[in-house]
Amino acid sequence: MLKVEQISVSYDGSRILRDVSFEVPAQQLVCLMGRNGVGKSTALRSIVGLLKLGSGSIRLDGQEITSLAPPDRARLGIGYVPQGRDIFPNLTVLENLRIGAVARGRKLNGELDRVFQLFPVLKEMRQRKGGVLSGGQQQQLAMARALLTGPKLLILDEPTEGIQPSIIDEIEQTLRTIRSEGQMSILLVEQYLDFARALADRFYIMDRGAIAASGGVQDLNDEVIRKHLTV
Ligand SMILES: Nc1ncnc2c1ncn2[C@@H]1O[C@H](COP(=O)(O)OP(=O)(O)O)[C@@H](O)[C@H]1O
Ligand SMILES: [Mg+2]
Repeated sequence: MLKVEQISVSYDGSRILRDVSFEVPAQQLVCLMGRNGVGKSTALRSIVGLLKLGSGSIRLDGQEITSLAPPDRARLGIGYVPQGRDIFPNLTVLENLRIGAVARGRKLNGELDRVFQLFPVLKEMRQRKGGVLSGGQQQQLAMARALLTGPKLLILDEPTEGIQPSIIDEIEQTLRTIRSEGQMSILLVEQYLDFARALADRFYIMDRGAIAASGGVQDLNDEVIRKHLTV
């Protein structure tokens, strides 16, 4: 459903992505992996439209989206949770969630109940300011907000980074639930190997701005890990 073909991206003249190609098949969870600084977040930002490609193409369900602005890509069904906890600390949980839906001109009715089912803690905390939530709760809030835009493709950038194990387990369970419902494809950037292994159907590993390895999750063996993922 997402097809990234031969994309190249530069920052200030230095080439960050070199002819990167990968695919997310419908209803699958694909994990994009690699050490720090290899270009994972840059690849995601290119998909959501925050960076201009030097060359290459990005298609969503066959439609070329390369020249569309970020809000237009969101309207076509791309939901994005950036790295770090990108929530509004001075707005309540509920207000943070409303922004997600309003951005796409949607009304929140049953959908709010659905995300509260996925993240019960957000229901409990709905009147609290986003800034008082723990890091893990803020990550869940950012995910919930993206889900309220009704995406076909959910893109997550290192959702487990700096988060306590119990909440990592909750996030894993949530992604499992979403996937089992069969409505969404998921592109996950992740360095936490166990988490990636537990969830992914397929993986791609980046090294210095290029795809260095890929396969089904069963191919994510010790040799591949040693070569491309250990520091
Ligand atoms: N806004 C920016 N301006 C210049 N260089 C950047 C910028 N953002 C990232 N980079 C560089 O691009 C490379 C890839 O970064 P990034 O995509 O964030 O890697 P990853 O997500 O894999 O850790 C790094 O060398 C980083 O220093
Ligand atoms: Mg990154």
